[in-house]
Amino acid sequence: MALAYLTRRERFSAAHRLFKPELSDTENFDLFGQCSHPNWHGHNYELFVTVKGQVNPSLGYVVNLKKVSEIIREKVISKLDHKNVNLDVDFMQGILATTENLAIAIWRVLEKPIRETGAELHCVKIKETENNFVEYYGD
Ligand code: NI
Repeated sequence: MALAYLTRRERFSAAHRLFKPELSDTENFDLFGQCSHPNWHGHNYELFVTVKGQVNPSLGYVVNLKKVSEIIREKVISKLDHKNVNLDVDFMQGILATTENLAIAIWRVLEKPIRETGAELHCVKIKETENNFVEYYGD
């Protein structure tokens, strides 16, 4: 048996605003920079979902990648793509729309359905811009 890690990339475009409602726009800008702009803005995000598992000796793969992709699209991408993270996304309600929080929320959405494929979720990585990305490996 051999343990391997398999990563699927998906993309989505979404709007958000980082802000604490009790703070002024200036205070929010100090904390969150451009991402606190009051009238929203968007990012072209990349999501990398890594699963791990034993390579099936007869099939030569960890898990059927098509199934993994369908889970990610149904549970995550369909809810985020061309949406407003703050307003439209059920699993982000009441959560500050940072990349860190998004990665944690996506982990929580995917953990169980990925396990049902026979693999284990290993990492949720989100690239917000060319220069910034977050990785979450569970707690
Ligand atoms: Ni932003």
